[in-house]
Amino acid sequence: MKELNHLLIFTDLIIVTLLWRTGFIATAKLCPNCGRTALPFPLSTGPDCGDQQYKVRCQMGKLWFDALNDSSYEIMLIDPLAQRLVVRPPGLANDKSCMAADFRSQGIQLNDNLPFNVSGSNTVVAMNCSTEILQLSLNCSTKSPCHDYIRSKAMKACGNSSICCLYKTGGSVNAYKIRVREQRCSAYESFVNLDISMPVNKWPEPGVEIEWAAPREPVCESVADCLDSVNSACFPDAVGQRSCLCKAGFQWNPINGVCQSEYKLLLSRFLLSLYVSWPNLVFGSKES
Ligand SMILES: *[C@@H]1O[C@H](CO)[C@@H](O)[C@H](O)[C@H]1NC(C)=O
Ligand SMILES: *[C@@H]1O[C@H](CO)[C@@H](O)[C@H](O)[C@H]1NC(C)=O
Ligand SMILES: *[C@@H]1O[C@H](CO)[C@@H](O)[C@H](O)[C@H]1NC(C)=O
Ligand SMILES: *[C@@H]1O[C@H](CO)[C@@H](O)[C@H](O)[C@H]1NC(C)=O
Ligand SMILES: *[C@@H]1O[C@H](CO)[C@@H](O)[C@H](O)[C@H]1NC(C)=O
Repeated sequence: MKELNHLLIFTDLIIVTLLWRTGFIATAKLCPNCGRTALPFPLSTGPDCGDQQYKVRCQMGKLWFDALNDSSYEIMLIDPLAQRLVVRPPGLANDKSCMAADFRSQGIQLNDNLPFNVSGSNTVVAMNCSTEILQLSLNCSTKSPCHDYIRSKAMKACGNSSICCLYKTGGSVNAYKIRVREQRCSAYESFVNLDISMPVNKWPEPGVEIEWAAPREPVCESVADCLDSVNSACFPDAVGQRSCLCKAGFQWNPINGVCQSEYKLLLSRFLLSLYVSWPNLVFGSKES
């Protein structure tokens, strides 16, 4: 059953790609590639593409995610269907002191007015912590795997800092930040989907996973603002502003950022069912 589901999702992806390539499913204006990386909707590298709430920066062929207080993180991976991206944490400033390279900006701090937040999939190794941290609900025990991490990867800089802790992101406390500062912890590393029962040499590359909220229909002031959003018109929306809402017979698709025809949606499901069953149609009733 699981295999069948995977097959369905896989063929769904192929078909959606085919339909999209042939112009059957429209997409909101995508931004051009950054180096070799394609930019999915709603991410935006410029004023006339993507959704302006979802800004990222393209510089010298690399994508950067800008956080508060002038710190920036390289984007390593984007998963548009899961609405997630992974940035590279900055590591230590140098190998002489146990301080994060982004200590000045107090770690990663996101603007909580924007639709990005720190997902619940990160495990953070916090190092060079003060005794104040012990009152918080982190695992700072002498058995915490953070000690193994320091022994194996950060001995030179952090070997002398006695307190380290491990915690998972995802609570309301760290929905918008992985914070470092003198009174708490001064350095950190982060891992996505870490299985802490694994020995440190099997841990993945460091990463911080960031999640984005599904984009809403573009806001508008007049009819003219919706001319780019096919099959929509400027109507008052549920939160009291005006948006390019989909016309009757169309549905907002937040992955592609378009109003998609309900009829075409049905047709693509029909094509999908044909595609899935064609091996039976072709090779099926040979016995008879
Ligand atoms: C940004 O830096 C300023 C000055 O160092 C500081 O007062 C402020 O709290 C910092 N903001 C954040 C979100 O860390
Ligand atoms: C720990 O961090 C503080 C700043 O908060 C720094 O002054 C100190 O040198 C660091 N300790 C080590 C062992 O690097
Ligand atoms: C901290 O982590 C260690 C090792 O994984 C575990 O044995 C211990 O129960 C944890 N303590 C708390 C308070 O979660
Ligand atoms: C760690 O502390 C010891 C003794 O205090 C000192 O000799 C050593 O240089 C320190 N190592 C680092 C990397 O700071
Ligand atoms: C982060 O944003 C997503 C999407 O809006 C939401 O489902 C999730 O609950 C948020 N996480 C936190 C910790 O606020």
